[in-house]
This record gives sequence, C-alpha cells and structure tokens, in this order.
Amino acid sequence: MATTEALKIHEIVKYPDPVLAKMCEPVTVFDAALRTLVAEMFESMYVAQGIGLAGPQIAIPKRLTVIDVSFKKDPKDKLLLINPEVVESRGKQMEEEGCLSLPEIREKVARAAWVKVRAQNERGEWFEVEGEELLARAILHEIDHLNGVLFIDRISRLKRELALRKIRKMQRNGEW
Ligand code: NI
Repeated sequence: MATTEALKIHEIVKYPDPVLAKMCEPVTVFDAALRTLVAEMFESMYVAQGIGLAGPQIAIPKRLTVIDVSFKKDPKDKLLLINPEVVESRGKQMEEEGCLSLPEIREKVARAAWVKVRAQNERGEWFEVEGEELLARAILHEIDHLNGVLFIDRISRLKRELALRKIRKMQRNGEW
C-alpha cells in the first residue's frame, strides 16, 4: 500500500449530483490502484468527519464503500466492503441518519436492526460480516449509495419536501 506517499483527499459529491443516483458497477480489478483508492477513501471519510463513504460520493460509481462506526477509536471497526450483498436481515430500528452528501440534513430512517452481508476485501476474497444497531444502519446506508439511493428517498414525502426546501435555501445562500 502507498502508505509513505501523501494520499489524495477526494472532494465529497453533494446532492443533487447525478452520480449519486447511479446504479454503480461492480469492482472487477483488485490491484494496487484499488488499494490506493481504498486508503484514500478512508482518509477522505475521516477528513470529512464521516463514519461511512461510498464510491459515488467521490464521483466513482463503483461498488465499494468504507465504514468506521467508532471513527478511529477501535481499529477493528474499520470496514471495507467491495461488491457487498445483503445475505440476511432482521428486526427494525428507527434512528436519525445523516450523509456527507446531504450536509445538515438529518432524519429518522427505518432500517433493519441486524444485517449479515457478504462482500469482497481489497484482495478480492469473499467474507461475511454481521452488524447490529449503528453498524447495521451504516452498512445499509452505504449499500443504498451503491444502488443510487439516498436516505431522503426512504423518508415520507412531506419530510423529503422539507429537506429539499432546506437544501434549496442553502443553495441560494451559497452554503451548499
Ligand atoms: Ni451517505
């Protein structure tokens, strides 16, 4: 890995950039360039103060996402999912969610309480990971990104209208 070189910090793409609405393409090449991209994604996520970042959010419409629900506190929480698929999910949780591509917008979103996912690592090896509570939420939120879905697509029409109104106001004021 390119640990000695300075990593590129990618700019986060904001709603309504069309790349966020794309169905992303699978990752098929597991090479040094992919490993550099993964390292850049973790760094870009930390710089942006996020706990999850998906390819399309840095204008790369590929099926990969990085997650760290403890934000560097526990190295075991660093999670890379390439070509992830939900194997099983159960229960329901309803908690507030945000997104680096929708700054300052927060809404309660219904998600499964527990999820099991199958994904590839940066060497292309398949593995399974289970998560509950915040980790389940983060995994499902990020997989949504890979399918062109944002959390505001999962809230009521009224709440979405209010969120979009807030976004338009921020755009007008040059704050978006
Ligand atoms: Ni997001």
